[in-house]
Amino acid sequence: MHTPVCDMFGIEYPIFAFSHCRDVVAAVSKAGGMGVLGALAFTPEQLEIELDWIDDNIDGKPYGVDVVIPAKYESRGDLDPDTMADKFAGMIPDEHKQWIEKVLAEHDVPPLTDADEQRSGLLGWTQEGAWPQVEIGLSHPAKLLVNALGPPPPEVVDYAHERDVKVAALIGSKAHAERQVAQGVDLIVAQGYEAGGHTGEVASMVLVPEVVDAVAPVPVLAAGGIGTGRQVAASMALGAEGVWTGSIWLTTAEGGTAPQVLDKLLAANSRDTVRSRSWTGKPARMLRTEWTDAWEREDSPGYLPMPLQYMATNDAQRRITKYQVEELVGMPVGQIVGRMDRVRPVREVMYDLVEEFIEAEQRLEGLVET
Ligand SMILES: Cc1cc2nc3c(=O)[nH]c(=O)nc-3n(C[C@H](O)[C@H](O)[C@H](O)COP(=O)(O)O)c2cc1C
Repeated sequence: MHTPVCDMFGIEYPIFAFSHCRDVVAAVSKAGGMGVLGALAFTPEQLEIELDWIDDNIDGKPYGVDVVIPAKYESRGDLDPDTMADKFAGMIPDEHKQWIEKVLAEHDVPPLTDADEQRSGLLGWTQEGAWPQVEIGLSHPAKLLVNALGPPPPEVVDYAHERDVKVAALIGSKAHAERQVAQGVDLIVAQGYEAGGHTGEVASMVLVPEVVDAVAPVPVLAAGGIGTGRQVAASMALGAEGVWTGSIWLTTAEGGTAPQVLDKLLAANSRDTVRSRSWTGKPARMLRTEWTDAWEREDSPGYLPMPLQYMATNDAQRRITKYQVEELVGMPVGQIVGRMDRVRPVREVMYDLVEEFIEAEQRLEGLVET
């Protein structure tokens, strides 16, 4: 399973793993793949701690850092990092606040208490918020910087390249891929409709070859719906030079997923997800719950633009998680959740991906008449 991407990073297998969990990142890299830490949810101080831990536990193997700088968000270009959380908080309509309280009351969800930490709910969803994450990420020996939801701004690409760090970007359409390459991105992650988290409308089977042909010779990683070695082999057959995975790590022994959500993931089938704007205001695939359904009801106030939707719902999500409200609790995950039916260590998942890839490749080879 050796492709030029392996040489680009000095890795054994072109299997990339996105995770918010440092243990997964380290375990994937140590098993021959490339772990990439999602920085979005970390404050700069926390991110520093996570990356220090990775540096101490990854045996010198390469890893990456992922940030989210959307192409479009509320007040883009007109924000002061010190005051933007308050500015955004003031933009959340009362109608939304009242409706969210109504839904929580329907499910008897208690409020947070004074003992719970106050949080603005503004994560790194903006360039202003993500910039410190980029600086911290690249002050560590990360080999790859990844951006989601739009082309990384030129200053971010230059900042990475000056430090000899490659830049990758997630895309959901051929036009997006072409824009990213024009911006100097080194590696395209073509992520199909099946994927967990923010997704476009084109399925991987169509998207990957379209993007591979459009951006050649820039390498493409296939993403969305990859959880078995057969899907890795299919990705390579479509022209990808590797795979980018997210969902499958949520049910690994190292994944750190809360027990109640873990049970839901293990029980879910491939029809149990929905592309919903209830998380961030942009369509993202996640477990379908009574929470995602509520946002589609007649009385719903509608979705807010990024980052207001996440901020408006942040405390509600914390309450749902804290009080383990079964029918409301969920998380982003892709359609591959249907195959995530037991907890396995990262090393075993990696081994199975590689072994099954080899089997699939041999089966295909057997089809060729000589
Ligand atoms: C829980 C979860 C959170 C995610 N958050 C991010 C993120 O912060 N940044 C990002 O680039 N991608 C994020 N993604 C998308 C993944 O990077 C990846 O593209 C996707 O999971 C691939 O599809 P799969 O879920 O079918 O493997 C997230 C995915 C999941 C499942």
